Amino acid sequence: MTDAETMLDRIAAAENLSELEAVRVSALGKAGSITALLKSLGSMDSEGRASEAPRIHALREQVTQAIAERKSTLENAELERKLATEAIDLSLPAPEGLSGTVHPVSQVMDELAEIFADLGFSVAEGPEIETQWYNFSALNMPENHPARAMQDTFYLEPREGEDEPRVLRTHTSPVQIRAMEAHGAPVRLIAPGRVYRSDSDATHTPMFHQIEGLVIDRAITLGHLKWTLETFLKAFFERDDVVLRMRPSYFPFTEPSAEVDVGWSIEKGRRVVGGQQGWMEVLGSGMIHPRVIANAGLDPAEWQGFAFGTGVDRLAMLKYGMDDLRPFFDGDIRWLKHYGFRALDVPTLSGGVGA
Ligand code: PHE
Repeated sequence: MTDAETMLDRIAAAENLSELEAVRVSALGKAGSITALLKSLGSMDSEGRASEAPRIHALREQVTQAIAERKSTLENAELERKLATEAIDLSLPAPEGLSGTVHPVSQVMDELAEIFADLGFSVAEGPEIETQWYNFSALNMPENHPARAMQDTFYLEPREGEDEPRVLRTHTSPVQIRAMEAHGAPVRLIAPGRVYRSDSDATHTPMFHQIEGLVIDRAITLGHLKWTLETFLKAFFERDDVVLRMRPSYFPFTEPSAEVDVGWSIEKGRRVVGGQQGWMEVLGSGMIHPRVIANAGLDPAEWQGFAFGTGVDRLAMLKYGMDDLRPFFDGDIRWLKHYGFRALDVPTLSGGVGA
């Protein structure tokens, strides 16, 4: 069995890694044949050792290398076999406990799209990196307008040839202008998306989500705005006793402007939307300023409208009872499992949007 050829044959014949390991042990292990040969060198006279040592060392070298080569061949074959036989069927349902969840922000955005689709609103989007024209100036906030300081804006490094640096949009209102430019009037749309402000605490994160609503048509009044908001909030919170309170406010792009509060009450020790025990602010709104309509290329003598904006994350917190905004964006699997929704819980008005 010390015959080199026999050993090399056995290595080549090893069909799998455990057979190969058995050959290795029988040759190079503690009681292996080559190990025994190496030991025998000690009892030889110097002449015998001089002639045998190079042969035995060469044999060990040859066998070690053959084993390494065979090992890598077997490993590659094993990998090929796995790739060929362990195909993943993506259409199979994930095992219980392994499936991902729909983030509450996505869920709420789906719910809002569903509610507003029912009212005839389409969904629009705009860029998150925005020019100051769309984010501010077109919305009746010219340079040096104090309202620009109301929002803690992230400014980008100016690019070559750019008059003024671009910004990360601070609200979804620039989509009002883009939508009017792109579609003219009448318009009825919502624009959900990410917005950015340099702000961070339990209820503020530097990135958060807003949804904008915009209606432009002839003879649109504050009454249409109030009805739309009431209908939307009742559908969203799935309660008929949602009460709104409109407070005069100021936004440069609306005139008049109103901040909207919803009534809340305490149920089972928890504060819920509905009833009138107290009030909390949920959105900003108003009739579109004629200058904004003109900035978007429409004739304000012919077209009027209203707009509103609100925080999607805040709506999610109110509806699903979370009190800290920061974990929304931590990606903690335990939070996502707890507050996430099942992938196929598609909101429907008949089944309830929060189903
Ligand atoms: N863009 C305003 C904000 O972010 C909200 C708003 C939108 C107010 C539309 C009025 C009309 O605070």
